[in-house]
Amino acid sequence: MSALSEARLRALVEARRGVLAELELEEILKRLLVSARELTGARYAALGVLDSNRVRLERFITDGIDEATRHRIGELPTGRGVLGVLIADPRPLRLDYVADHPQAVGFPDGHPPMGAFLGVPITIRGLAWGNLYLTEKQDGAAFSEADEESAVMLADSAAIAIDHARSVDRARLRQSIQSAELERGRWARELHDETLQGLGALRVALSSALRRGAGYEAVVTDAVVQLGEEIAKLRGLITDLRPASLSELGLQAALEALAHRVSTRTGTEVKTVVALAFDAGAERERLDHELEEAIYRVAQEGLTNASKHAHASHVEVKVIERTREVELTVTDDGVGFDPASASRGYGLAGVRERADLVGGTARVDSSPGGGTTLSAIFPATRAEPYHVGPDPADM
Ligand SMILES: Nc1ncnc2c1ncn2[C@@H]1O[C@H](COP(=O)(O)OP(=O)(O)OP(=O)(O)O)[C@@H](O)[C@H]1O
Ligand SMILES: [Mg+2]
Repeated sequence: MSALSEARLRALVEARRGVLAELELEEILKRLLVSARELTGARYAALGVLDSNRVRLERFITDGIDEATRHRIGELPTGRGVLGVLIADPRPLRLDYVADHPQAVGFPDGHPPMGAFLGVPITIRGLAWGNLYLTEKQDGAAFSEADEESAVMLADSAAIAIDHARSVDRARLRQSIQSAELERGRWARELHDETLQGLGALRVALSSALRRGAGYEAVVTDAVVQLGEEIAKLRGLITDLRPASLSELGLQAALEALAHRVSTRTGTEVKTVVALAFDAGAERERLDHELEEAIYRVAQEGLTNASKHAHASHVEVKVIERTREVELTVTDDGVGFDPASASRGYGLAGVRERADLVGGTARVDSSPGGGTTLSAIFPATRAEPYHVGPDPADM
């Protein structure tokens, strides 16, 4: 450590601070490269991250090379030559002239000349996951031991950042798998409770008629009616799963259709109010697709809860756009509940997740005996304008 001056240490601490702040991995690694060049006086710095098999580079970030040069060099290094040496044997490597190394394969066309070289591995829990490379010390000198120490410490910061980003990715993936699993569980339950029960009852009725051997006509007549009902329920479930009307007809029509389905199914009166800034049904005036989907799904959960738990006689679904914001409320006049008491359902948790995904927030206001309001506020993002005819810029 003796070789590290106070200024170097301060710069290293600065660099590590970036790692600890919640920056995008790419941005953190870029900052580390900038620090590496400042600390060592290298003209060029690069950082290669290996793929999951730890054989090839999956990411290669550079600093000091302008866009045009990078474009001219073309493809990312494949990990042959000296870069490959570092991958196969992850130990710091300092060379006065990179081209003199026995494994050197030369530079691709357009590559700036590089002499002095310093490469250090990026290791995570003892395994090499990439390398930090520095070349061309600006005063033409070779890299020193102090440069190597700085590079090792920066590579260590890069390792922390890469490891952290990977575990965040894994946590996100795990959460989305869990959500999908819970959703599947709900639909399975729905199919079990709705369709399977109905079909089971039908089978019992038909087999007992068979055993009795008489009165077929009445039983078959009933069965036909019941089958018709089951088909309608199944169709409703399929529509709930994949509401075609949302992408084709837009949010308002889809919500109206949903409201209609819920009120015929449950007898609850459902009113819908949609007031969007530009809602004339024209393509270019639509909200962002993900936002429409989120609003629809939240409204759907609100309506399902109102019909399942609230015993409400009236429900109102309102979508109102204000400045840069869209608010959805689902209000019922039912029995209400205490939102603070724990619940084993997934619906309201899913609502919060959905709102969060599109940058919104959701809340439930309710009290026993006082009805329930589910509300969500989203940033009003719009779909890309839909161009009809020639682009105005061409005219
Ligand atoms: N509109 C409402 N009126 C009365 N009680 C409600 C209402 N909405 C929710 N609740 C209560 O809150 C609980 C949690 O609702 P949530 O939607 O999270 O789960 P769920 O509807 O029970 O199950 P799931 O939505 O997973 O099918 C419900 O079980 C119910 O007791
Ligand atoms: Mg629910």
